[in-house]
Amino acid sequence: MPADRPRAEPRNPIKQTRLRLLVSYIAVTAAIMALFAVGFYTYVRSTLVERVDDTLDHVVELVERSLVVVPGPDGEPVVDANYVFAGGDDDPTVEMDLIYLEWFDRRGQVVRSTAVFPRPVPLVRGSLHATVEVSPDHKLRQVTVPMRRAGHLLGYLRVSHQWFEVDRPSRQLFIELSAGVVLTMVMIGLGGWFLTELALRPVRESYDRLKQFTADASHELRTPLAALQTNVQVALADPQPSVDEYRRSLEVTERLTRRLGRLVADLLFLARNEGLQSAEGRICCNLTEILQQVVEEQTPLAQAADLAVQLKSGGPLTVTANPDQMHQLFTNLLSNAIRYTPAGGRVCLGTARDGRDALVEVSDTGIGIAPEHLERIFERFWRVDSARTRQAGGSGLGLAIARTIVENHRGEIHALSEPGRGTTLRVRLPGRPDGQERRPASENTPGALPLEG
Ligand SMILES: Nc1ncnc2c1ncn2[C@@H]1O[C@H](COP(=O)(O)OP(=O)(O)O)[C@@H](O)[C@H]1O
Ligand SMILES: [Mg+2]
Repeated sequence: MPADRPRAEPRNPIKQTRLRLLVSYIAVTAAIMALFAVGFYTYVRSTLVERVDDTLDHVVELVERSLVVVPGPDGEPVVDANYVFAGGDDDPTVEMDLIYLEWFDRRGQVVRSTAVFPRPVPLVRGSLHATVEVSPDHKLRQVTVPMRRAGHLLGYLRVSHQWFEVDRPSRQLFIELSAGVVLTMVMIGLGGWFLTELALRPVRESYDRLKQFTADASHELRTPLAALQTNVQVALADPQPSVDEYRRSLEVTERLTRRLGRLVADLLFLARNEGLQSAEGRICCNLTEILQQVVEEQTPLAQAADLAVQLKSGGPLTVTANPDQMHQLFTNLLSNAIRYTPAGGRVCLGTARDGRDALVEVSDTGIGIAPEHLERIFERFWRVDSARTRQAGGSGLGLAIARTIVENHRGEIHALSEPGRGTTLRVRLPGRPDGQERRPASENTPGALPLEG
C-alpha cells in the first residue's frame, strides 16, 4: 500500500458540518422550548390571578348580600356601618392575613376596615380589579365595587388579597421551568452530538474513502509516470541513438502509456460504478457465451505461461446483466488465475445454476492466498506482493472492479484459497426475476460445480 497518505488536514469539513448541524439543531430546539416555557408560564400565572379574582368577587357577593340598609337622616338609604362586616376571626368571609375588607362611605373615607397595611392605600373609584404595591415587598390584588340601593350610592366595598398567592407559585414555576429548559437543552445537546455522529458517519466514511482513493490513485499513477519520464530522459541524453536503441525506448514508452491508460480506465470505472445499482445497460444475456469468449481471448496468454484452461459449462446460463461488465468481471478473474499460477498448472471455469441464481467459479492450482490476506484482496490497490504484481502489470484494481460489478448486480463474490494449492473465486448472480428460464428441479445442483474434485 502506498505510504504517502495525506496527513493532518487543516480543516475537516465533516467536523465543521457536524458542529454547524449541532448548533442549528440546538438553536431551533432552544427557541421552541423557550416559546413553550413562556407560554406555559403565562398561562399558569393568568390562571392564578383569575382564581384570586374569583375569590375576591365571591367575598364581594357575600358582603353585598348581608348589607343592612337603614334610612339616613335626610331620608336616603344608608348602610349601618356596624353591620357591614364584623371583621376579625368571627367573620366567616374573612380569612385573616389573606383577605382584607374595607368599607368607604360615599366621599371615599374609610368607615370600617380589617386591614393592617403599613400605609393606607387610597381608594381608586373607577378600578375594579387591580394589583397595587403597598411597599416594595408587599403587593395586593384588590377589587373595588360601588354599592347601590334603588339608584343611591351607599359607599364602596374594597376587598384585598395577598399577592404572594400568585407571586410565590409563579416564581417557583419560573425557577422549575428554567431548570427544566436548561436540563433538557443539555440532554438535547448530548443527544444531538450522538445523533449527528450517527448521521454523519456514512458521510465521513465515504469522505475518508474518497481521500484514500485519491491518495492511492495519485501514488499508482506516479509510478508509471516516473518510469516514463526516466525513459524519455535517458533517450534524450543520448545524442546519436542507434535505430535499435531508439526503437527500444519507444517500445518502453508505448508499454508504459498503455499501462497508464489501463490504470486510468480502471480508476474511472470504479469512480463511476461503485455503489451504482441502476439497471441501465442490463439485458438478458447468456453467461456461457460470454465465458467462452473470455476463455478464447485469454488462451494465448495461458499457453504462453504453459497453463491448461478449461471451461466446464453446466448448460445455458441466462442472467439479466450488463454483458460488457460480465466480460470484464470474468476477464479479471481469469487473468488473475493465469497470472498467479505457475507453469504446468490448471485453470478451470465452471458454471451451475442454484435455483434462480447463476453460479460461476474460477479456480486455479496456483500459489494461493494466505488466510490473513483473503479478507483484503477485494480492496482497491491491495496486493499480496505489490512489487511483484506491479511488475507483472497488475494495478491491484482487478478484484475491486470485480466486486463492484458483482455487487451492482446484487450478487456475491467470495474467494477460497489454500496457499500453495490454488484459489477459487466464486460468483453468484441473481437470475431473471420472472424465472423465464425455468429448469427441472433435478438439474439444480447447488454447490456441486462440474469443476470441483
Ligand atoms: N487467483 C489468484 N491466486 C493468487 N492470488 C491472487 C489471485 N487473484 C488475486 N490474487 C491476489 O489478490 C491481489 C489483488 O488482485 P487484483 O485486484 O486482481 O490485483 P492485481 O491482479 O492487479 O494485483 C493480487 O495482487 C494477488 O496477490
Ligand atoms: Mg488482477
